[in-house]
Amino acid sequence: MNPFDSSTLRHLLSDGLAPAESEALHAEARRVARSRFGTGVYVRALVEVTNVCRNDCLYCGIRRSNGGVGRYTLTPEEIVASCRRAYDAGLRTFVLQGGENPAFAERQVARVVEQLHRAMPEAAITLSLGEQSRDTYRRWRDAGATRYLLRHETACPRHYATLHPADMSFDHRMECLRTLRDLGYQVGTGMMVGTPGQTVDTLIRDLEFMADFRPEMIGIGPFLPHSATPLARCAPGELELTLRLVSILRLMHPSANIPSTTALATLHPEGRLRGVMAGANVVMPNVSPVGVRSRYNLYDSKAHTGAEAVEGLAQLAAQLDTIGYYINYDKGDYV
Ligand code: 5AD
Repeated sequence: MNPFDSSTLRHLLSDGLAPAESEALHAEARRVARSRFGTGVYVRALVEVTNVCRNDCLYCGIRRSNGGVGRYTLTPEEIVASCRRAYDAGLRTFVLQGGENPAFAERQVARVVEQLHRAMPEAAITLSLGEQSRDTYRRWRDAGATRYLLRHETACPRHYATLHPADMSFDHRMECLRTLRDLGYQVGTGMMVGTPGQTVDTLIRDLEFMADFRPEMIGIGPFLPHSATPLARCAPGELELTLRLVSILRLMHPSANIPSTTALATLHPEGRLRGVMAGANVVMPNVSPVGVRSRYNLYDSKAHTGAEAVEGLAQLAAQLDTIGYYINYDKGDYV
């Protein structure tokens, strides 16, 4: 469903949009989200399983060439314990996210997924471990993972090439997304807002790509610079533009699971709530062991405490309550 023609999109994404128009957009997106999800917001437990990454994406703080990162990979026991803690707190979706770490991908992921699936069969397992071979994706699917997050980052191949090293390709990213879909995963994609080189035109291409691909999940958040990357001096993405995109995506994808992201919460103290008010229906509290959280800095000042973390669920619930929402602990499959 695409309720917008391209001139309307261009207007909604333009700098000078009147506040009243932007508020009307958010109100409509909120109405649509409420008609699907009521005032419940799903929670997904985010486990940052490894910050070892073979890639060198220009925007990312855990890129290979950042020598200042203390690298870690959680043991299977630590991953299971983190998920168990989340499970005991009531969460029913685990998201295992990490860099592209071949040793970990080949040896451990399938076993951990199997173990989690066996121990907590009512929980959904989501993976976010980058680009892998079809065989690997299949092995993980067979082990019990049913959802996969792989943002497309930008639907413009030229823009993609400016944000990624030469050994990564837009075509391969697209191929991975198609493979994941083909293997029966619910697939999440999305982009950062405000990366250098992004324009209204590239954003419209993002929206058109997603209208065509129909992702079950959509992750978007502002680009936030990391001091040890080539993009350190670039400006962060804008709050208002990010929120307008959340609303546009909600209207284009009424049933999609759209998180109010950590990047949004990091950009602005009210970012998480503003995301929900713009039509997001998911939040992803961090359940990684406290000792490794500061080593998973994709960008500077990444929020990982308080309402951003599993210890802060009561705080999150209280914050959501101030805008008339509550935490929905269901696993919330795409329907
Ligand atoms: N700012 C915001 N988001 C980032 N990501 C990676 N680096 C940054 C950054 N500097 C996002 C990417 C990736 C997701 C896991 O985190 O979109 O897909």
